[in-house]
Amino acid sequence: MGQDLKKKRKKRSRSKEKSVELVVANEAKQIQQQEQEKGEIANEENQKPKQQQQGNPKKKKKKQESFPFGNYKNYYGYRISNDMDEDPRLKVLKKEWFQGKDCLDIGCNSGIMTIHIANKFGCRSILGVDIDSSRVGDAQWHLRNFVRKQNHAKPGEKKSTSVAADGVVHGSEEQSVSLSNGEAKTGSGETKDLFQIVSFQKENFVHTRNLDENRYDTILCLSVTKWIHLNWGDDGLITLFSKIWRLLNPGGIFVMEPQPWKSYEKNRRVSETTAMHHRTIVLRPEHFQEILLDKIGFRTVEDLTSSLSGVSKGFDRQILAFQK
Ligand SMILES: C[S@@+](CC[C@H](N)C(=O)[O-])C[C@H]1O[C@@H](n2cnc3c(N)ncnc32)[C@H](O)[C@@H]1O
Repeated sequence: MGQDLKKKRKKRSRSKEKSVELVVANEAKQIQQQEQEKGEIANEENQKPKQQQQGNPKKKKKKQESFPFGNYKNYYGYRISNDMDEDPRLKVLKKEWFQGKDCLDIGCNSGIMTIHIANKFGCRSILGVDIDSSRVGDAQWHLRNFVRKQNHAKPGEKKSTSVAADGVVHGSEEQSVSLSNGEAKTGSGETKDLFQIVSFQKENFVHTRNLDENRYDTILCLSVTKWIHLNWGDDGLITLFSKIWRLLNPGGIFVMEPQPWKSYEKNRRVSETTAMHHRTIVLRPEHFQEILLDKIGFRTVEDLTSSLSGVSKGFDRQILAFQK
């Protein structure tokens, strides 16, 4: 009898513990949701004009944003200093890799480099993909803004536009294939609206495109390998390289700007996943070239970095072009 009572009490206290756990879990979820909402509101607040923000001195400090995929909001603000008219990487890319070609830009962020490549070299098509839908939204906005600015350039005033670090569009000297009215001349001499050439889509490149029939002449992967490596480990990196190889036409070009191993260190703690992969990664960036040539099957490699100048501090990275 006494034992039965003890058992019942034990059972009751166990189920109590369980429901307490449930409540705590639910509360944690609610708090997390609230925090998320606050964070989103804080972000929106940050977009408002300065005066409005100053009007409320009691406003809480903005929640620190994290960018676990390198999906920085103002990436080109760090990358391109104000005195530069264009991203210095554009100077080492070869026209023949892009003019009249179908291109893919993996990890396009806010699309500035993608738009510039299309405008400067006259791709037949270029698709920018990014894991972060907000960055894809930014890219679409930049494209509209770029075309709008070009359309407003005075007729006869042969001007091309460039999107600077802050996303602001500036006029610059006429370039070989860009036209003044938001159009670009593709390799075949055909004039196309930039909207028909450039497109952006949200995509996690590591997890998609297994059955994709599209093929490309040129694929770019600029400052993205570290993020894929830290988030999906060595397997993710090999998946990235093999998919790129499969998606390229014979003779196609893969342009890669890998971040050096020492730069992994400072981002390893952005999430538990990245910390874990940082500990277990075996393939280091200094091995990528060998992997791409000996294991993946690229035929040749060219180092473009020797002619690269004017790069901001911390972004003086190697840029390699592999041919399939
Ligand atoms: C540091 S930015 C580089 C932007 C651009 N490629 C450049 O160099 O100008 C890295 C970008 O890769 C994207 N990214 C990371 N992992 C990705 C994945 N698995 N699939 C697609 N995009 C990814 C991030 O969202 C981020 O916008």
